[in-house]
Amino acid sequence: MKFKKKILCIGAGYVGGPSMAMIAHKCPDCRVTIVDISHERIDAWNSAELPVYEPGLDEIVKKTRGKNLFFAKDIENQIKENDIIFVSVNTPTKMFGAGAGMAADLQYWEKTARQILKYSQSPKIVIEKSTLPVKTALTMERILSAAKGKFTFEVLSNPEFMAEGTAIKDLENPDRILIGSRETKTGLKARAELAGIYARWIPKEKIITSNIWSSELSKLVANAFLAQRVSSINSISALCEKADADITEVAKAVGMDSRIGSKFINAGIGFGGSCFKKDILNLVYLCNCYGLPEVANYWESIVKINEYQQERFITNILGTMFNTLAGKKICILGFAFKADTGDTRESPAIHITRRLLAEHAEVIISDPKALKNAAIDLAGEKGSIFYMQDPYRAASGCHALAILTDWNLYKKLDYKKIYKSMAKPAFLFDGRNVIDQNKCFEIGFNVYPIGKPALSHFKTKQDY
Ligand code: NAD
Ligand code: UGA
Repeated sequence: MKFKKKILCIGAGYVGGPSMAMIAHKCPDCRVTIVDISHERIDAWNSAELPVYEPGLDEIVKKTRGKNLFFAKDIENQIKENDIIFVSVNTPTKMFGAGAGMAADLQYWEKTARQILKYSQSPKIVIEKSTLPVKTALTMERILSAAKGKFTFEVLSNPEFMAEGTAIKDLENPDRILIGSRETKTGLKARAELAGIYARWIPKEKIITSNIWSSELSKLVANAFLAQRVSSINSISALCEKADADITEVAKAVGMDSRIGSKFINAGIGFGGSCFKKDILNLVYLCNCYGLPEVANYWESIVKINEYQQERFITNILGTMFNTLAGKKICILGFAFKADTGDTRESPAIHITRRLLAEHAEVIISDPKALKNAAIDLAGEKGSIFYMQDPYRAASGCHALAILTDWNLYKKLDYKKIYKSMAKPAFLFDGRNVIDQNKCFEIGFNVYPIGKPALSHFKTKQDY
């Protein structure tokens, strides 16, 4: 079959895989190829067990794979053969040298730019899909300009706003698609070409365009605003616990103001995921570089509140369980950074588990999709860690349950059965406010929610 467009994506990760699968699904006359330096990842994408768990992803990949969606290892040939190249490589926080712990590590990004330059033999549209510091497109343009007029490259910014766990829904029906370009004749032409691809399934009014720097910056700012809402509600959850108010009631009352809105104000143990922290730190670094320390400090406080919230959760477990966890069994329900994903990057569960192990607790971890990643994250940790898929087996004999991920499954467990199997007094720390806390209290648990009064069978704290 002769395809109308030949599209390549460099980087077959959580973004590259699902976003390209969606393009292939919606544009059967386009050939979409995804390459990665990790051959293991490409093999997994070509296998029955995809490397990324996302509801709905398997179906789309199975429908398109081998027809107009391909996962390949020959990066060199693919760069030569394709006309439109998305770059979706990882841009983690830099851990060395200048900007260590704050700036984005752009080494993978720059290597890709150089590969595109080296292997290209015809004009290309190169699209930033990764999240990048503002002005990165300039670097890409400068590297690619070494082709010196043999052929031209047009660099676009098209940040991805999907969230894990809802990626397919988000990609199919996004709030908006943002395309930034140079406002030159060729820049506008490339912008229109990319908009045309999305217009195959997304209403035109949702496809917005901007100058390239606004597009790059909007992505960092969107993540910073989302994380800010989580830290705002979490900071108030600490106050609620002191003042006998209920964070769910406060969030409802506040969120019903249409100017504020009800989404993204669920209190919990803090945000995780590969992006919020790294993107805010990147924003902080940029503000400092541009001589705006007050702005930098404002945004950095969001990360600090997030760390404070996790620490508060640990301190509460320790204090509540008579100030010693040594030899006690704690069952962790949920290790993924959020529900409906197996991703554990920056999951609060990692830090919380490490702190429990430091107190010499025995930790039993249960999660429907994230146990493989949990074992990788905790490899090398000293102490007793066990992994058990079945939550009932995991909880049996434990002194406490700590719910760290908002999996729907945890709302439906038979807590009576679990309570019976546990050591007494049994503690339940609901780090995501997902269970029926009153019911669990009636069953016999001492229940410790986030941002609400504890439901304790001990009369007062002084009683123990
Ligand atoms: P990821 O680590 O899952 O995937 C990146 C892939 O790029 C890896 O498989 C890696 O092997 C590959 N890679 C690195 N250098 C390469 C090279 N030179 N050639 C070929 N392949 C190379 O990362 P991700 O979660 O998909 O994130 C990618 C980007 O998208 C990041 O900038 C991130 O901030 C952004 N983003 C992520 C999400 C998300 O939900 N994960 C959402 C929106 C935006
Ligand atoms: C987030 C953004 O929502 C996406 O728009 C963005 O594209 C993506 O980051 C990215 O750039 O990587 P993601 O991290 O996958 O998506 O998931 P979210 O739903 O945003 O959740 C992030 C964290 O915040 C999770 O740990 C979640 O449990 C926590 N959260 C979220 C809360 O604690 N409370 C809330 O009300 C909402």
